[in-house]
Amino acid sequence: MRILSGIQSSGRLHLGNYFGAIRQFIELQHEGEALFFIANLHALNTVRDAELARELTREVAVAFLALGLDPTQAVLFRQSDIPEVTELYWVLGTVVPVAHLERAHSYKDKIARGIAPDFGLFAYPVLMAADILAYAADVVPVGKDQIQHIEFARDWATKFNVQYVKGYDPQDPAGLEKGHAKGILKLPAARLQERTAVIPGIDGQKMSKSYGNTIELFGDEKEIKKRIMGIKTDSTPVEAPKPTENSPLYELLRIMAPPSEFAEIDRSWRSGGKGYGEYKKKLLEYFHATFDPARRRREELLRDPGELDRILEEGARRAREIATGVLDAVRVAVGLK
Ligand code: ADP
Ligand code: TRP
Repeated sequence: MRILSGIQSSGRLHLGNYFGAIRQFIELQHEGEALFFIANLHALNTVRDAELARELTREVAVAFLALGLDPTQAVLFRQSDIPEVTELYWVLGTVVPVAHLERAHSYKDKIARGIAPDFGLFAYPVLMAADILAYAADVVPVGKDQIQHIEFARDWATKFNVQYVKGYDPQDPAGLEKGHAKGILKLPAARLQERTAVIPGIDGQKMSKSYGNTIELFGDEKEIKKRIMGIKTDSTPVEAPKPTENSPLYELLRIMAPPSEFAEIDRSWRSGGKGYGEYKKKLLEYFHATFDPARRRREELLRDPGELDRILEEGARRAREIATGVLDAVRVAVGLK
């Protein structure tokens, strides 16, 4: 089983990125052949400063390693190191209906927020599909907001196969039945981690760098404390039971506390007697317990940039071997070779 996912290097990583994405990635590294990449081409849509783009790319790579990705188990690489992906992006684009791109949630959301769309934003899902299909990935772990993109990748892989593979039957994509051919592009499956599907930010909306409501994984410690102490709460008095609905503090405690300790938190939350401030202090403790070891590993890695370069080069070499195989077949199928 080949597992693949990517994360954009478009900002500092936050709790939403960790619990919604990175943690799942790292857990999956022992379940199959895992490939993880830093989507630095996608990031160009928003990061328009070369120095910052380079820095954030390294930042995400270092975060993966510090948080437990083992480069001898999983392949870690930069999206832009694999030119086959951008070639597939074009070829795939020739079978992508514009209507699909027009109904992409991520695109519509950005337009709704008043962002003037560039072609890069419009074409974002096509590049993402190329990322997935170039490595013939079986499973793509992603957050809820990315599910539609995986469905697009499946649709477009099917369209491509129907167009270019003789004997391809969309009902039998692996070509298992007699007379059926296997597709050139393999259909990926999304994997969603339900329990922590959407991590709330300190204001209760989805945690996102674009809402300024994040708690950064490796941010300045004073700032982290300030953010946690500033989590939005209501005016329920100390002695009263607290509402669990629409409470980012409760939700973050549920995610960060060890299950055995959460049982007690949940009990006191529902019966009353403790103030929100006390719960916030608890959350800050859990934050440190969870991320301080990774913070120390990150600092070690930052002191040795040569080691990071070696890991990324080796990752690119392994990823490229796979993508080259897929692209050879694609080029012949469409008549480029
Ligand atoms: P942001 O919303 O801060 O711009 P990205 O869109 O770069 O974050 O997300 C990177 C990854 O982290 C994606 O896989 C996304 O699903 C996940 N993710 C981001 N924010 C959250 C969140 N609040 N809850 C769950 N997952 C999230
Ligand atoms: N769009 C994804 C995100 O915002 C990042 C990404 C790019 C990705 N290409 C991918 C995720 C391919 C999975 C597979 O997080």
